[in-house]
Amino acid sequence: MRQHRVRTVRRLARAAVAASAAAAALTFGFSAPSQAADPSLREVAESTGRFIGTAVNDGLLSNGTYSDIVSTEFDSVTAENAMKWEAVEPQRGQFNWAGGDRLVQFAQANDQLVYGHTLVWHSQMPGWLQNGSFSNSELRTIVTDHVTTQVSRYKDKVQRWDVVNEAFNEDGSLRQSKFYQQLGASYIADSFRAARAADPDAKLFINDYNTETANAKSDGLYRLVRDLKAQGVPIDGVGFQNHLIVGQVNGQAIRQNLQRFADLGLEVAVTELDIRMRMPSDSSKLQQQARDYRAVADACLAVSRCSGITVWGVSDRDSWVPDVFDGEGAACPWDENYRPKPAYDALRDAFVAAGGDPGDPDDPDNPGDPDPPTGDCSAAFTVSNRWDTGSVVSVTIRTGQALNGWRAQFDLPAGVNLANGWNGAFSQSGRTVTVSNAAYNGTVSAGGTISFGFQTSGGAAQDGTRVSLGGQECAAG
Ligand code: XIL
Repeated sequence: MRQHRVRTVRRLARAAVAASAAAAALTFGFSAPSQAADPSLREVAESTGRFIGTAVNDGLLSNGTYSDIVSTEFDSVTAENAMKWEAVEPQRGQFNWAGGDRLVQFAQANDQLVYGHTLVWHSQMPGWLQNGSFSNSELRTIVTDHVTTQVSRYKDKVQRWDVVNEAFNEDGSLRQSKFYQQLGASYIADSFRAARAADPDAKLFINDYNTETANAKSDGLYRLVRDLKAQGVPIDGVGFQNHLIVGQVNGQAIRQNLQRFADLGLEVAVTELDIRMRMPSDSSKLQQQARDYRAVADACLAVSRCSGITVWGVSDRDSWVPDVFDGEGAACPWDENYRPKPAYDALRDAFVAAGGDPGDPDDPDNPGDPDPPTGDCSAAFTVSNRWDTGSVVSVTIRTGQALNGWRAQFDLPAGVNLANGWNGAFSQSGRTVTVSNAAYNGTVSAGGTISFGFQTSGGAAQDGTRVSLGGQECAAG
């Protein structure tokens, strides 16, 4: 089975990715044969409908080795620092978008999602904000203006935002940040509302650490997001940082905790995964680290609403860990010399093991699942952003009858390629793109809607393109 999946994934792989993987192999002189021969992390992740991301230091993108790994292995990027308040608004009202823009351009050139990090956080605030004294109403305006300005700047370019970061104390109470001290808990709801108003299509997250398993802190977070949802505050997801320690990872506890948040109807994601060890590293620590990475990945992949995994740094050379945790390090999937570690293989194995089996139409023994039946459907195919060589499309299909698994198809203009999709498993053959449900959105009630989105490369898609569902053409909707 594993062999078949790998072959299928490879068949679907775009030539461009294969070419750049080969180039990367040449550049690094990889000794691990698996690196050049096997599909990349992003290829195996895409076959599961989940994303695989990394924190990116945009200053390193001029380093060819670094940027080759980021573009070849990941389909999502998070700014490690460039989108934080101190970087974006160093003086009040003066914005510096250079680092964020560079990352967004890189992502568009490489058909990647962008995970925006972070809008409202007690740490890495600019001095004028940290040290300034403001009336409560002035501070409220400062917060909502900041959220509005930044989310508007990246409207349709950033698909997910950590709107509020690290709002909790370890005991589950709200942290006494400047925001909480002056505004109370309402700063959280206000920030989400401002973000939603600025970009209705971006998914809005609250993000924290030490919340990976059930404990006092994650219980506090759980109560907050449950209440926010009940009050109609526009929150879509919860991010779990996962800054973990080798040998102290309980995959089952992580899965159960992700599931209880998912059961609130929220998306969940692993947002900052790294697993550190006491230095120096040795092969048994690296093997244990691989098992720990696998456990976290398996936990996410077992939860249908877990949309993806972001690692916090590509290599041990770029990681924040040694600067912050005395005597610890080696927390990333690549080593100091950008060679993949056992943790890298473990991550890839987890995606391969979780990969759906899309079948191979050329293989008479396994032609893939037949199209599930559908009733009447209508579909809106909307190009929300376009540029010279690409576009972003969102598709919403309303189905007349309940579905348990679905498959949608449409054609792109000649020469336009599917680059990267979300909320579905994507493949392209000639001009025709096929999208099947992701693990978490296959069940749709009669009259319910299916939503997915994607980016194109090589040109823009056409607004209003006709879509079929289960082989039946949908009315324009
Ligand atoms: C870290 C960065 O990796 C460092 O470069 C920076 O000096 C400090 O912040 N939780 C978060 C991240 O939400 O933004 C932090 O990133 C790591 C902990």
